[in-house]
Amino acid sequence: MHDRRQIIRAAIAAPLACALPGWARAATPPTDDVAMARFIAGLPKAEFHVHLEGTLEAEMKFALAKRNNLSLPYADVEAMKRSYIYHDLPSFLKIYYDGMQVLLTEQDFYDLAYGYLSKAASQNVLYAEMFFDPQEHLKRGVPIEAVIGGITRARADAAKTLGIQSQLILCFMRDLSAASAMEALDAALPYKDKLVGVGLDSDEKGNPPEKFAEHFAKARAAGLHVTMHCDVNQENTLGNIRTALVDLKAERIDHGGNIVQSPELVALAKSLGIPFTVCPTFSGKVMDDGQPINALREMLDAGLKVSVNSDDPAYMGSEYITEVLVRAQKDSALTPAELVRIERNAFETAWIPAEQRDGYLARLDAYAQSWDLTA
Ligand code: HPA
Ligand code: ZN
Repeated sequence: MHDRRQIIRAAIAAPLACALPGWARAATPPTDDVAMARFIAGLPKAEFHVHLEGTLEAEMKFALAKRNNLSLPYADVEAMKRSYIYHDLPSFLKIYYDGMQVLLTEQDFYDLAYGYLSKAASQNVLYAEMFFDPQEHLKRGVPIEAVIGGITRARADAAKTLGIQSQLILCFMRDLSAASAMEALDAALPYKDKLVGVGLDSDEKGNPPEKFAEHFAKARAAGLHVTMHCDVNQENTLGNIRTALVDLKAERIDHGGNIVQSPELVALAKSLGIPFTVCPTFSGKVMDDGQPINALREMLDAGLKVSVNSDDPAYMGSEYITEVLVRAQKDSALTPAELVRIERNAFETAWIPAEQRDGYLARLDAYAQSWDLTA
């Protein structure tokens, strides 16, 4: 007899529902866990909040360490995975930055990016905008050409071989100096045609968005889009969201769940049409008067343009977008129509040309209709 979790896993792994002949497709919206898992697996998806270095699986870390003649302080993959224990943003970041020390060559960055893109494509992600943290690599003497070059080559191969389209967002590490971020931006600007935007990540405490006002202005003048992390439950969290939206004119907010505590900021974000990239695995719970509230549920109910994303899947139980959505569906009681709405929000707010967007939206509409849902 099959265990229910096994059946759900099999449904996730099954051939995509949109690839099934018409007679084999579900004609009604999913009503049980198994159908829901199948529905989510086949849903055409976009992902905007995924740190490439956060997709560095332990297996690949061992392989790259071997190739680069580095030793790792773990006996094996399992021991390494057991060390991924964190309880807040700084303790997570320590593990995350330690992990990326094995990335040294253009081929390493190619393998990292191609690995993520093949996983994403296998989960029906049609389009991804991926973060990377160049400062951490420049610090180790890795040239920017190796970082951007390897990722760009992987993007091109993945588009050709797997059909997944992607773009790249350079993140400033907010806990390093403003000068270090400017050096990274200056090093990357000759490759700006390989980038779609800039972002802001790492430890928010003591590093408000205005520290990088000049960097964002310069990037924008170079034709790049601008997004920023506003991690949940940070010091002056609402103040930082306000600064990002009002003073720095962020086009998108990564995480940003605490906004639901301010009706005024919610109204502002809605009037500006700002999208929010929510990562339920990492930033799902906003603390409100000492009580956790479900950020995704509250943001959807507030009418914000929310997408769902995997953030750093290699450090979050190797749960990629389909698993994240399956879990979010349960935790946030998402209806099939809301799942379609989430992906619609994503495609609508992607930094892509209108024709590409229309193609994705048409695929999403056709998929929703095949389940008897209107998109
Ligand atoms: N927040 C801040 N910095 C990060 C994150 C995040 O979610 N992931 C990787 N670096
Ligand atoms: Zn993030």
